[in-house]
Amino acid sequence: MIPPGETIGILGGGQLGRMLAMAAAQLGYRAHVFSPEADAIAAEVCGDFTMAAWDDTAALRRFAADCAVVTYEFENVPVAPLAALGAVKLMPGVRALEIAQDRLAEKRFVTELGGSPAPFLAVASRDDLSHAILTIGTPGILKTRRDGYDGKGQWRIMTPADAEALDADVFDRELVYEGFIDFRAEFSVLLCRGADGDLRFWDTPENVHEGGILARSTVPGGALVQGEVNAARSLARKVAVALDYVGVLCLEFFATKAGPIFNEMAPRVHNSGHWTIEGAITSQFENHIRAICGLPLGETTLAARGVKMNNLIGDAAHDWAAILSDPSNHLHLYGKAAARPGRKMGHVTRLVLK
Ligand SMILES: Nc1ncnc2c1ncn2[C@@H]1O[C@H](COP(=O)(O)OP(=O)(O)O)[C@@H](O)[C@H]1O
Ligand SMILES: [Mg+2]
Repeated sequence: MIPPGETIGILGGGQLGRMLAMAAAQLGYRAHVFSPEADAIAAEVCGDFTMAAWDDTAALRRFAADCAVVTYEFENVPVAPLAALGAVKLMPGVRALEIAQDRLAEKRFVTELGGSPAPFLAVASRDDLSHAILTIGTPGILKTRRDGYDGKGQWRIMTPADAEALDADVFDRELVYEGFIDFRAEFSVLLCRGADGDLRFWDTPENVHEGGILARSTVPGGALVQGEVNAARSLARKVAVALDYVGVLCLEFFATKAGPIFNEMAPRVHNSGHWTIEGAITSQFENHIRAICGLPLGETTLAARGVKMNNLIGDAAHDWAAILSDPSNHLHLYGKAAARPGRKMGHVTRLVLK
């Protein structure tokens, strides 16, 4: 067990790191954020900040010397330089990071555990894509294997002509082509596994994405989602156990007539779990900190009849005064300087009490 008073290292300085640092502070821990970005918004609420590149092993070594445990808020951290953390434990572990940062590895891993992703094939060239389209059909989505988020690094292929129109430089990176799923709804399974193996699920949010970006989460999900939760949870549990996972894990699914289709996983706290701050007995951030420090987990049950979480994207965050004029709203602003289209600036949570 890591006792309060010690320092928790957080790789990544975005809003997830910011909310993790606040949860750490609540439990009496100090947070040390490591990020290559000078304007890391997590740095405003932590005890120490290292600004350095992901592959700066000297900086990683100094960072590790200050931390009792290191976690990450972002899964695209290059894995090799993390050896510089030495004996300081990374939680969740490196394997979870390696799998989740590669869409192909992630789909193969989940398939081995009995899960069903959309039909997929690896693509490294234009010829591979033609072959994938012949095998899987259209419509489909071509995605970068690595570094995609919020719908970035994706090309929708409605017809083979869309594939022919792609620029040659698209094929400079490793890709995966997957069939388009005609889903009825999207949902995510959020769980936390403690160092002692205690595994708890939060209620399942139904998620709506707009332009590839999460727009809102509603808890509990609708009847269709409810009907698929058990199958999805059973897969998520297998993933957590297979990875000997410690911390919060999120798996995203499409709800279809044929049951849940696995979309992707995040080895970290997740935007579709922000509602847990006010809407669950223990938030995803608090339980993540408890888990990586070896403390017992808190209850994950709902603290209200239901919860709605809306992301504030781009200019929407400017409406904060109107949002606060309704006393039922909880406003979270991340302190990002410039609103850009598609940029997550904050979120609003509202509990459904009766
Ligand atoms: N195979 C698919 N079929 C249908 N919709 C998809 C598919 N893949 C992605 N999407 C839509 O795009 C969103 C973002 O894609 P996702 O693969 O989760 O990327 P990101 O890593 O950017 O979140 C999904 O939540 C879903 O709405
Ligand atoms: Mg996603």
